[in-house]
Amino acid sequence: MNKRNARLLSAMAGYDAGDVPRVQHFVKVHGFAAAIGRAEGLDERTLDVLEAAAIVHDIGIHAAERKHGSNAGGWQQVEGPPEARALLEGVGGFSPEEIDRICFLVGHHHTYEGVDGPDWRILLEADFLVNAHEDRLPAAAVRAARARIFRTESGLRLLDSIYGNATAAPAAFRPMRRFGQTLSEEEVREVLRAAKRGVLSVVGDDGRPYGVYLNPLYDEATGRLYFHGAKEGHKIDALRRDPRASFTVIDEGSHDASRPPEWALTFRSVVVFGRVEFVENQDEALEICRRLSRRFTQDEAAIEDEIRRAGARVLVFALVPEHVTGKRVHEA
Ligand SMILES: [Fe+2]
Repeated sequence: MNKRNARLLSAMAGYDAGDVPRVQHFVKVHGFAAAIGRAEGLDERTLDVLEAAAIVHDIGIHAAERKHGSNAGGWQQVEGPPEARALLEGVGGFSPEEIDRICFLVGHHHTYEGVDGPDWRILLEADFLVNAHEDRLPAAAVRAARARIFRTESGLRLLDSIYGNATAAPAAFRPMRRFGQTLSEEEVREVLRAAKRGVLSVVGDDGRPYGVYLNPLYDEATGRLYFHGAKEGHKIDALRRDPRASFTVIDEGSHDASRPPEWALTFRSVVVFGRVEFVENQDEALEICRRLSRRFTQDEAAIEDEIRRAGARVLVFALVPEHVTGKRVHEA
């Protein structure tokens, strides 16, 4: 690294004073970013900007925690750039254009769409190479990130060298314990087809489990479950960080005369484990919204009205199944 970035690294360590894991984190991210940038043949100026961005990329965490009580990626991206600008101006020697680009990268280091340059791409890759270990991400998440985030040859080579076994191994799911209660495949499809509500569980802020009720659309041909919602929020931040999710539904339940007590119902319960993929194509997303709406109303005019009104603000995503379990549960 050049002298200017060495001063920046020292200033950033001062900014994070006492927070050992954060300092270790950005030093590692910088190391990977510099190595990938050099191997990919970036020109000196782009490489310097990338290295500076890697050093300060997480600078918004403290402000996000202080102001919003959350270090979710979305808040970091909001709070990071002004903090980065102040630090860069304090260190000195950065041109206004360089500061703009570094702040832009800080504000987009949790954004995976629209990547417009190798500095942005490499920052995403370097951050993941470190996070996969620090967050103890399982094989399925590493595989998902390999497909979603990694594009440079050097980044892919590093990922495969470090997490090679993880990317090759299939995801492990625990087998169902009580085989007598297992639902048939047809019953699983029946429950998913009929379900109008269920709980989508994601890895939320700080790794805390977070479940929300959503209306699913089950696409039988692909096994995918589609959902719609706002473009921002806890759930979306979580899914952009980690696409792993599960969706849990039960049917309405029924009385089984042979199983007392009299108040207890027997449910068919299905859990779909998988990875979320965002539907980027707006026409496709709106068509899914129409299909989803038709599960609740046949009023086509009202559906089109709603799409005209809110269609631009809607985000559609699919849970791509990796593992499905179904069982009968007696609530007594
Ligand atoms: Fe990071």
